[in-house]
Amino acid sequence: MKVVAFNGSARKDGNTAILIRRVLAVLEKEGIDTELIQLSGKQIHGCTACGTCRKVKNKECKILNDEVNLYISKMAESDGIILGSPTYFSMMSPEMKALIDRVGFVARSNNDMFKQKVGAAVVAVRRAGGIPTFDAINHFFLINQMIIPGSSYWNVGIGLNKGDVEKDEEGIKTMEDLGRNMAWLLKKINLKNLSNKRKRK
Ligand SMILES: Cc1cc2nc3c(=O)[nH]c(=O)nc-3n(C[C@H](O)[C@H](O)[C@H](O)COP(=O)(O)O)c2cc1C
Repeated sequence: MKVVAFNGSARKDGNTAILIRRVLAVLEKEGIDTELIQLSGKQIHGCTACGTCRKVKNKECKILNDEVNLYISKMAESDGIILGSPTYFSMMSPEMKALIDRVGFVARSNNDMFKQKVGAAVVAVRRAGGIPTFDAINHFFLINQMIIPGSSYWNVGIGLNKGDVEKDEEGIKTMEDLGRNMAWLLKKINLKNLSNKRKRK
């Protein structure tokens, strides 16, 4: 089993990355492979609304001069997807929004290709706007027919400067509980898939 995580922050290895890594550490401990991709420094254009993905249905975006198609294939081969973002003016970062718009249109044009995968949002915030950001990312998972595990609080960590989220004890616990619940859910879904495969044989 594998979980791929995306950090949508413009700041590499900042608070969002720290929070995501807390979730990934628990997943790894539970025997699940993980990969973290940081969007910082990558040029990701927003969706141009060309509609090609809806016509061609080849699981790709027509824009080829960035890494979005690679990210789509990494999501497709994973059992779980984590989308992490800092809060910028009460919403996700433009990098994460561009990723969601492009990937979302391709996925929905291809028979909801992430259907029944497990999805989780992770958000870093200084003071306010974390919940709208969390909700907006969850809207991506929900419209893609994905399954969202909960945690002991909404998946938000508080901090301004790099590393500040380490001091948010409850935020860190929330990420660790999320990791445990995500691992539990992934294992349940995987068992079910295995037994369905066996029945079909
Ligand atoms: C352009 C910009 C806008 C921001 N807007 C908000 C905001 O609306 N609310 C808030 O609480 N923090 C805001 N912040 C602070 C970040 O959310 C906070 O520093 C977060 O920990 C950054 O995560 P990172 O280290 O992963 O980049 C903003 C930061 C930037 C750079």
